[in-house]
Amino acid sequence: MKRLNILVICGGTSPEADVSRQTGKALFDSCKRLGHNATLLDIPEIEFMKTPDMLERFDLVVVGYHGTLGEDGHIQAYLETVGIPFTGSGMMASSICMNKELTKRILEDIGIPTPPWSIIGINDNRTVIGEKISHLHYPLFVKPNSQGSTIGGSFVENSSSLLDALHLAFQYSRKAIVEEYISGRELAVGIVGETVLPPLEIVPKGGLYDYKHKYQDGLTEYIVPANIPELVAASLKRDSWRAFTAIGCSGYARADIRYDGKRYYFLEINNLPGMTSHSLVPKAAAAIGMGFDNIAEKIIDEAINPRRRYVQ
Ligand SMILES: Nc1ncnc2c1ncn2[C@@H]1O[C@H](COP(=O)(O)OP(=O)(O)O)[C@@H](O)[C@H]1O
Ligand SMILES: [Mg+2]
Repeated sequence: MKRLNILVICGGTSPEADVSRQTGKALFDSCKRLGHNATLLDIPEIEFMKTPDMLERFDLVVVGYHGTLGEDGHIQAYLETVGIPFTGSGMMASSICMNKELTKRILEDIGIPTPPWSIIGINDNRTVIGEKISHLHYPLFVKPNSQGSTIGGSFVENSSSLLDALHLAFQYSRKAIVEEYISGRELAVGIVGETVLPPLEIVPKGGLYDYKHKYQDGLTEYIVPANIPELVAASLKRDSWRAFTAIGCSGYARADIRYDGKRYYFLEINNLPGMTSHSLVPKAAAAIGMGFDNIAEKIIDEAINPRRRYVQ
């Protein structure tokens, strides 16, 4: 591959800023190992968007942000407007992925299973809430419509804790997703370029896969390929690719899934999944002999290859 001038951006102002710094550093190191001329920039998203002239020196931006502004389409819209290639999904797909309601509507539209659900607005009164969730069976899971890293989510055993759970979710988003709780196992499927990686199973020691379990060493066990029937794994991979293309993602992504032993249910698609040493996509890739640098090379290649532009 040609030696490129690459700008890696990370940090930002979302609750996931620290993870973003680790992702940015890992991608930056990889760019250098691949022989590129790389610059790492830890910068708040808004400040980054005030410096279009700086981008003239670069061939490509590697987006290492996670969460609001960096992941939800704002940075992507800016980079599309400036006209510089960048890694990951474009503005439209990024906005859809950050919005669980829109993602679930698309999944349902193409026949991909997602937990039975409802969407509650911050101004809905108790009567409206009751009507909206009347088709759902407890236990439920309540989470903000647009937030990541399991922040603001609650398990809701019965109606007595529903309002508290909604109240918590509304601290992060003006809409909350209420879903039936899918008991069982936690799976993830990564996609890099056009390769769908083997499903990975996440086994948190002691129950919930919360923020701490996601980012702290030794609290979670990962099994890849997940120990699920071959037919289920094949179907899950097919549906992951269908979801990725229906939303219009490009470069790489990760689907989060629950599996109750019979059926799987898609929870969401992450358009800028973590790329740290704890992260799921690198772990799943390693299982098929795809190292971290192979992933970086692939997502750079997808970003600069105009063949991929149709997905915008
Ligand atoms: N309907 C559900 N049933 C069971 N667990 C859920 C459900 N929704 C979310 N969870 C749990 O919460 C975690 C975070 O939910 P997710 O939809 O992936 O949002 P995010 O990662 O953006 O916070 C999941 O990985 C899963 O462990
Ligand atoms: Mg998730």
